[in-house]
Amino acid sequence: MKVGIDRLSFYCPAYYLDLAKLAAVRQVDPNKYRVGLGQERMAVAPPDEDVVTMGANAALPIVEADGVEDLDWLLFATETGVDQSKAAAMFVHGLLELPERCTAVELKQACYSGTAALQFACAWVAAHPGRAVLIIAADIARYDLRSPGEPTQGAGAVAMRVCAQPRLLALDPWRGTYADDVMDFWRPNYREEALVDGPYSTRVYLNAMVECWKRYRDASGLQWDHLQRLCCHLPFTRIVEKGLQQLHRQAGWPAWSAEETARRISYGLAYNRQTGNTYAASLYESLTALFDTCPDDLSGDRIGLFSYGSGCTAEWFSGVVQPGYRAALWSEAHARRLAERVELDYQQYEDIVTLSMPRDGGEYVFAQYRTGPFRLAGMSQHKRVYERA
Ligand code: CAA
Repeated sequence: MKVGIDRLSFYCPAYYLDLAKLAAVRQVDPNKYRVGLGQERMAVAPPDEDVVTMGANAALPIVEADGVEDLDWLLFATETGVDQSKAAAMFVHGLLELPERCTAVELKQACYSGTAALQFACAWVAAHPGRAVLIIAADIARYDLRSPGEPTQGAGAVAMRVCAQPRLLALDPWRGTYADDVMDFWRPNYREEALVDGPYSTRVYLNAMVECWKRYRDASGLQWDHLQRLCCHLPFTRIVEKGLQQLHRQAGWPAWSAEETARRISYGLAYNRQTGNTYAASLYESLTALFDTCPDDLSGDRIGLFSYGSGCTAEWFSGVVQPGYRAALWSEAHARRLAERVELDYQQYEDIVTLSMPRDGGEYVFAQYRTGPFRLAGMSQHKRVYERA
């Protein structure tokens, strides 16, 4: 029985900052961000958008198209949780009116947790054919203003439906994994911005990629040329180029020409270049972009996927694209969402990211910005109040 991803729905905030504008204010050559990091724009979440609203907005098309009756689980992967106790999944459960029978939990391990959710979901569906799991991966990536991480900030969400006989991607049984207790990137409970040792985190990411590849290769018996396409966790899109160089140096991958690299990699970078890092959603945003923007027929192609979460846990896995996949995509809606965003000037960006959530338990009504159907209306007695606009 095939098990895997049946639907992919992407959502990002309606606001962005052009990194050329950030470069001008920071007095940096804009090519450092555009070429050196491979990033063009960063999505900025307005004050009435959080991971709950982004996740619910991403999942809504799936729920409307496929219903909720066969859902056993809602798994919410994030490292931008809104509560230390109540799962973001529970708020979404309410907003989407999921059945009482459908359990909902939140998962955390930096940017890796979406992949943990996917593996749990596939195992559940394999044991319960005919049932389905809804996964949401959503994050807001925040670093200190003027820090090296600032141009890699971003925000976004991907919702996935996992079931048997999936319409998009049937997952292979093999995986190559790696885990090590390191402090490359973290966010203490008292901070809204992450802390990171950037160069070290990049080295740990690249080392994990090679270790995972070797284990995946040994487990599957497959070689690099069995993977027609590659999607990776993308803290910034140029990291894939660094990954390919490392795989070439340490694991015998060929040095691909620019054309070969573009064919196998570039379609999957299209959305992440426009949103910045979306942490748990990043790999699945890349997969969505590959499906949506690649003009070739991907049917039968095996896609290699590399998931990385700082701290760190990583995994290489793969899946095979299913015939007729295009009928299950929302490519036009995704392109529209990205194209219709509103550009912020630098001061508007700084004003938004320096706003903090109220902490005094008072009554607050938040100004209405552009969002999807769900928004964060305010706070009341220490409770977040959501509404469907
Ligand atoms: N034109 C073209 N390229 C230029 C340039 C110019 N004018 N100026 C600089 N560059 C290049 C540099 O040569 C460099 O390329 P190489 O890596 O090939 O040498 C690139 O631009 C970046 O320049 P720096 O290394 O000087 O950049 P930096 O030190 O200021 O910051 C960073 C880079 C460390 C990635 C930083 O953005 C950061 O800390 N980001 C957050 C952490 C992160 O993303 N880590 C990735 C792995 S961890 C992970 O994956 C989990 C996660 O999601 C966070």
